Amino acid sequence: MAVLRAENLHKTFRSRGRAVQAVSGVSLRVEMGEVLAFLGPNGAGKTTTIKMVAGLVRPDRGLVRIEERDPHRDPWTLRRLGAVLEGNRNVYWRLTPLENLEYFGVLRGLTAGAARRRGELLLRRFDLDHKKNVLTQQLSRGMQQKLAIAVSLVHEPALLLLDEPTLGLDVEAAETVKQIVRELAAEGQAIVLTTHHLDVAQQLSERVAIIREGRIVAKDRTKTLLARFSGEQYEIEVAAELDEPRRRRLAGLGAEVTDGHVVYVGDPEGLWQVLEVLRPLPILRVEKDRADLTEVFLKLVREEADA
Ligand SMILES: Nc1ncnc2c1ncn2[C@@H]1O[C@H](COP(=O)(O)OP(=O)(O)OP(=O)(O)O)[C@@H](O)[C@H]1O
Ligand SMILES: [Mg+2]
Repeated sequence: MAVLRAENLHKTFRSRGRAVQAVSGVSLRVEMGEVLAFLGPNGAGKTTTIKMVAGLVRPDRGLVRIEERDPHRDPWTLRRLGAVLEGNRNVYWRLTPLENLEYFGVLRGLTAGAARRRGELLLRRFDLDHKKNVLTQQLSRGMQQKLAIAVSLVHEPALLLLDEPTLGLDVEAAETVKQIVRELAAEGQAIVLTTHHLDVAQQLSERVAIIREGRIVAKDRTKTLLARFSGEQYEIEVAAELDEPRRRRLAGLGAEVTDGHVVYVGDPEGLWQVLEVLRPLPILRVEKDRADLTEVFLKLVREEADA
């Protein structure tokens, strides 16, 4: 069973006679223990989609199912869902961290005692223990964000929605939050993660969905997507001087030789020919050029813009 199944979501906002089509036909699926990176440029429709999944914005069309239940109809669903929304106040500023955890824990179905125990645990885990009785408004931004994540986890949700959890944080606080997300992912928490930090997305996600102007332009396993955009370029490092005959034969195959490195652009079959020329020299390294998610992202977003 998928933890999240969103199908063909549509949302148009209307205000003052103008219509903005924010989301047009978005489908997403997240399995247990999986992290989906949900990426896209500003205004692409990420937050709107996340809010539809969280039951906060009603889709014009399409359906959302969390463990096969509808968050727009079935309040139970909210007990299976944790969310840290972008820019929103996810916690009460006039309550202390511990009070926030207790309040939201009870709201999502825990007993007062269980909420408190779980709250204490999360405060220790996120290194907020020393602030548990201070008003939340007196915490630093980074601490408030850590608290928001703690609150979203208090009832042990099946699905965690994180909409730009590092937005507006300084470098150190952002690192801390990234580390928390990394740990949650490693523990098998199902997460939909929206972020502009593509390095984090690349490190953490099994799968990526890229949205542009309300439509999904790519959806694949992160590895597959990266492989698809990687060039057919190989770099071979040899621990020996290359003699002149070898250099000529390599040039004949279209490989370039620069101090100790052979760079070959071509198909894997040609690569074997290159390696044949190098035999029996000691090879230190053969590496295929790898795209990173930033390249893939920019390519896809531009490709679509040109289309
Ligand atoms: N409540 C609203 N009323 C009117 N238009 C809205 C509303 N919420 C979002 N929009 C519009 O819908 C589009 C998608 O916005 P959304 O917030 O989903 O983008 P996003 O991908 O989260 O962007 P960002 O990366 O900047 O957070 C934008 O054009 C935005 O202006
Ligand atoms: Mg957003």
